[in-house]
Amino acid sequence: MNDDSRVLAENYNYQTGDDATQDAAQTVPIVPPSIPEYLQDTYWWAYLHPKSFWFFEREWVVNLILWGNMKKLTNAVLDEMDLRQQSSVLQVACVYGDFSNRLASHLAKTQSRLSVVDVAPIQLHNVEKKLDGHQNVSVHHQDSTSMSFADDSFEETVVFFLLHEQPEDARRKTVAEAIRVTRPGGRVIFVDYHGPKQSNPMRYVMKPILTMLEPYAMDLWHDELPAFMPADIDAEQISSNFYFGGLYQKVVVNV
Ligand SMILES: C[S@@+](CC[C@H](N)C(=O)[O-])C[C@H]1O[C@@H](n2cnc3c(N)ncnc32)[C@H](O)[C@@H]1O
Repeated sequence: MNDDSRVLAENYNYQTGDDATQDAAQTVPIVPPSIPEYLQDTYWWAYLHPKSFWFFEREWVVNLILWGNMKKLTNAVLDEMDLRQQSSVLQVACVYGDFSNRLASHLAKTQSRLSVVDVAPIQLHNVEKKLDGHQNVSVHHQDSTSMSFADDSFEETVVFFLLHEQPEDARRKTVAEAIRVTRPGGRVIFVDYHGPKQSNPMRYVMKPILTMLEPYAMDLWHDELPAFMPADIDAEQISSNFYFGGLYQKVVVNV
């Protein structure tokens, strides 16, 4: 953890926690989670360095990184949600751009609440500022691989482009945790990279980029996302959609 992160971590109260989830029971971690090695080693420049926000925290940059698909993929998440009044929704890990703002606005229509989890205090500080105008949002300093929420805390859980950044062990734990904290009858919505079709020229563009910058991402090209789910999830619980010639996927688990 760098000095900035340490200072920011002190802003999150681990004794009392954040009570903004209200109906999402949370057991408070005794010690704050530390920055995982893969995040520090591979992604420090994208998520931990203070200057990263200056570059990445713009919708057009995020949209460029996703080859113009940011709006379509965000809509794919929002359209998937089946919200009752006053639902609790979890976003696992911060996302640059307007994703969380759009999600929070969407949830406000049903007086639903959004909890955002991240392991990096500097990211939580940024998302707090970014979502300042929304009254239905709370942020939580937690590690996706061992969250402090009680089982069945949320109606819907969203994991947007996190899994490809995690080594397999962390990825499996994140998937299991996302399912654990989601109520029976609810959904976990994963959006991430996927191996594109043979005929998709983006294969040849993205393979060197991902191999160089995102060493764990190719796992999601080689294996389908359900391969990382716990054994007790049946195939009938899972539905998948693919976008942009198969480069992106949305996988929904009906819990
Ligand atoms: C969701 S991912 C990538 C999203 C997307 N590429 C974007 O444009 O922002 C990035 C976030 O995941 C967070 N993260 C990585 N590993 C985590 C973990 N184990 N627990 C919680 N958050 C994690 C990082 O701190 C970062 O804020």
